[in-house]
Amino acid sequence: AEDGYDLWLRYEQASEDLRPDYRKQISAIAILGDSPTIAAARQEMATGLAGILDKTVTVGTSVPRGNTLVAGTYDALSDLDLDRADVGPEGYAITQMRRDGRILTIIAADSDIGVLYGTFGLLQHMLQGEPIAGIDLVSRPATQHRLLNHWDNLDRYVERGYAGQSLWDWHKLPDYRDPRYTDYARANAAIGVNGTSLTNVNANAEVLTPQYLEKAAPLADVFRPYGIKVYLTARFSAPIEIGGLDTADPSNEEVQAWWEAKAEEIYNYIPDFGGFLVKANSEGQPGPQDYDRNHADGANMLADAVAPHGGIVMWRAFVYAADETQDRAKQAWEEFVPFDGQFRDNVLIQVKNGPIDFQPREPFSPLFAGVEDTKLMMEFQITKEYLGFATHLAYLGTMWEETLDAPAQRTEEGETLTVTDMMVSGNDAYTVSGMAGVANIGTDRNWSGSIFDQANWYAFGRLAWDPALDAETVAREWAAMTFTPDRAFLDPVVAMMMGSREAVVDYMTPLGLHHLMDTGHHYGPGPWVDDLDRPDWNPAYYHKADEDGIGFDRSSSGSDAVSQYAGFLREEWDDPETTPDELLLWFHHLSWDYEMRSGRTLWEEIVHHYQRGVDEVEAMRETWDGMAPYVDAERHAQIADFLAIQEKEARWWRNACLAYFMEVSGRDLPDGYEAPP
Ligand code: GCU
Repeated sequence: AEDGYDLWLRYEQASEDLRPDYRKQISAIAILGDSPTIAAARQEMATGLAGILDKTVTVGTSVPRGNTLVAGTYDALSDLDLDRADVGPEGYAITQMRRDGRILTIIAADSDIGVLYGTFGLLQHMLQGEPIAGIDLVSRPATQHRLLNHWDNLDRYVERGYAGQSLWDWHKLPDYRDPRYTDYARANAAIGVNGTSLTNVNANAEVLTPQYLEKAAPLADVFRPYGIKVYLTARFSAPIEIGGLDTADPSNEEVQAWWEAKAEEIYNYIPDFGGFLVKANSEGQPGPQDYDRNHADGANMLADAVAPHGGIVMWRAFVYAADETQDRAKQAWEEFVPFDGQFRDNVLIQVKNGPIDFQPREPFSPLFAGVEDTKLMMEFQITKEYLGFATHLAYLGTMWEETLDAPAQRTEEGETLTVTDMMVSGNDAYTVSGMAGVANIGTDRNWSGSIFDQANWYAFGRLAWDPALDAETVAREWAAMTFTPDRAFLDPVVAMMMGSREAVVDYMTPLGLHHLMDTGHHYGPGPWVDDLDRPDWNPAYYHKADEDGIGFDRSSSGSDAVSQYAGFLREEWDDPETTPDELLLWFHHLSWDYEMRSGRTLWEEIVHHYQRGVDEVEAMRETWDGMAPYVDAERHAQIADFLAIQEKEARWWRNACLAYFMEVSGRDLPDGYEAPP
């Protein structure tokens, strides 16, 4: 059944105009070498080509006669006397050449994992409907750590997960290795993901007990041939909870010794264990500040424990405390910048893309330009906690591209550096950088809760591999492999994807508004909520609408969060006249009558955006209705049904927000707009 299980590994046969050529150029196949990773490459190549070429395929272990596809490390291919491309430890090169009257298509790499990535690379090239004659490409990742973060609890409940239960079946592990674990590894290797943190950042210390380590080990075994390392979340108070100590103070020697022994124990179960992901002193989680120590003290203690084994610590910068009366958007910067340069080499500070929390639109986090001697990792949220869960279609590639490409800093020479530049800066950028994506994966047959949410998993992997890729290219790749490379389908569908996130911004939180979602679950509108104990969990705290105006003043006359950005941005964003419309109410509190660039008043502009969001979803439905000839009935119908939900809920968002703002402001709808019921 076309239920979406195969993701981007559907291996549909190539079109009539490509298949004969492919077949001619690949009459025999060999992958040289001998390791579990090479075996995985052989298996993938056989499965993939059998589908694409629509014939039985065997993949040999030595170079055969005829037009041959041959893959291996440069060492294994030494007989061919190839020019070595600079592919790095994980990259690959694909070339074609003529030798003794025959065509050789060659995938070469420095490592076995590079050969596997190259195998996926060639298969994807074909699945995207590209000819292979004269192929000549080199691909290597720009970042070293490309991780999924699963927010999965040990009882299999997935925090902010909208795609079923956790994939990790702790009850049947370690003895039953669900074949789905292998498919998970294949799908991830296909997009270059090389690490997975199995457990929730709101961590349960139990996962560090031998009973669970024994179960995590076989997952690591299954993932290993696919180049994927396992990471675990470390609850800072674990020495108390499972270690019998009466403190977790990082300066206490017993505590340090406990973590060292714990690391040793973990590496006995998982020899290539990646390291720890830590949420500390945030939203009630324990951390070093409980003992009057700082983030560097905490992170360094854990880093020292895993360092002898080659592990890393990803210490999250998502911190804000309940008793803070100040602007939450400023807190991470204030807690981390003073410790710049004090973190160990194997510590990466993992920073959410925006300063608040995965909103449909935020400016980039000022931390990306705030430190010089601290390694930073990007954290994106693939699961759509604030963008309509699994039913709303929102392609996040555009959102991530917006962050990665955002100008963040200016050098003395006047050169502008983007967020990506800041993230991968340093002499050897590759070894100090990473990107994490909060996974949207669960036990649903289609893995992600909807077909189009698969695109977000895909885009995360691609952008982690190469942050310079543009979102449209990535959307095209995905849509071609998930549906069809037929342009009559791709052009409209990719255009629909490209506009989809902006539609969500429009009908939920336009013009820099944020956190209007109903509290707790974060689904649907709740701008009126103002009665939670924690002020910073109330939507009203963020929009600050009253009869005079709306918006959060973060300018120098307000919370001054703008001062955490580089000079050129500070200047631009401190003044509403020069602040881009998209961020206007993020940085400014303005009168409803404020005159916008469009000539409308702010109130009219808000109404205009909510309406535009609804119109856009209507247009998306129409586009999708026209795609029926290109898509199997099962997937077409489900997507159409979800789009109908999205349209209904876009209206709900528009009506609820506008009704509330009308009441607060005492204003009517401008002429020509539908009145909320
Ligand atoms: C969000 C989310 C929480 C999560 C937190 C985090 O606030 O709602 O469920 O724990 O982010 O990133 O730690």
